[in-house]
Amino acid sequence: MIKVRAHSNIALIKYWGKRSQNLKTPLNNSISMTLDQLYTETELCYKPELSADRLFLNGERALPAMEQRVQGFMNVLRQSLGFSAFAEIHSTNFFPTGAGLASSASAFAALTLAAVKGQGQDLSTEVLSRLARQGSGSACRSLLGGFVEWQAGQREDGLDSFAVSLPSSSPHTSPWKPIMVVLVLTSAHKAIGSGDGMQRTVDTSPLYASWLDSVAVDLSDMRAGIRDQDFEKVGELMEHNALKMHATALAARPSVLYWEPASVALIHHIQGLRQEGVPCYLTMDAGPNVKVLLPPVSPSLSAAQQVQYIQQIIEHPAVTQHFVCQPGPEAQVIAL
Ligand code: PMV
Repeated sequence: MIKVRAHSNIALIKYWGKRSQNLKTPLNNSISMTLDQLYTETELCYKPELSADRLFLNGERALPAMEQRVQGFMNVLRQSLGFSAFAEIHSTNFFPTGAGLASSASAFAALTLAAVKGQGQDLSTEVLSRLARQGSGSACRSLLGGFVEWQAGQREDGLDSFAVSLPSSSPHTSPWKPIMVVLVLTSAHKAIGSGDGMQRTVDTSPLYASWLDSVAVDLSDMRAGIRDQDFEKVGELMEHNALKMHATALAARPSVLYWEPASVALIHHIQGLRQEGVPCYLTMDAGPNVKVLLPPVSPSLSAAQQVQYIQQIIEHPAVTQHFVCQPGPEAQVIAL
């Protein structure tokens, strides 16, 4: 038995579109922040009596479709790492599942680490990230902590498509710790999964080519913003990139629309607060929820002022639950 914990991540520059469906290699690089408060814990035990992997999700046997997806991914691991045993897997998400909070990212990162360590293998983060990518693309970023870039790569076999750490500090500064407030508007399951949503966007949105063209500049600006710990630059670009991704998806046929009325109300709320002087920027993924970036406590922002900003953000009636996150750690083994 082995138990691991992997944290969710939120993309500041989004991944939206695959080069290979099978290998889950993306069409563009993406940049994320790992979240300390949202995580999955996975216990895994290889059992000789099993003839198929068994998945328990949040304490209950998983639905067949979910179990089959995990069995397919375990087949990839068995083939890549050369073992044949089947496993009993207990996976618990410490946040709502399937509501655009990237539960698949932390879940597949945790499963990868548990399955590999459970086989007694010690693999580099690069190899683990490459394997996790084949479970869910954004999972490759959840193996690492802090700020992370997923390099799309160019190879047909996907060997150069994995995540690396992005430094947010130099020898003279400490790591950057902005706040990401995750606002849960509804924990209802999303209408269209991210995989189908992005594929339909690639196939039918007339805006997709401009999305890809413009992402290269977004990436280099975001790297510089994180390196320089420039909150305004990172926040403004994060919001722009997310709204651009959603605009591209909205232009698909039929339209890929993840926003609920409450999401739009929250967008107005955050942009309104910003006009009143609150330093906050939003991002959204393949679901209705909104995530808001705030600057870290510093000589120009007291802890009390930061708490007041968080209060102003969460007091909107559409917010049902919230998580106040900072950059989180890499995936790790928590029990053997
Ligand atoms: O890895 P997936 O299939 O869950 O897709 C993630 C897609 C977005 O969350 C919208 C963007 C991203 O880079 O995380």
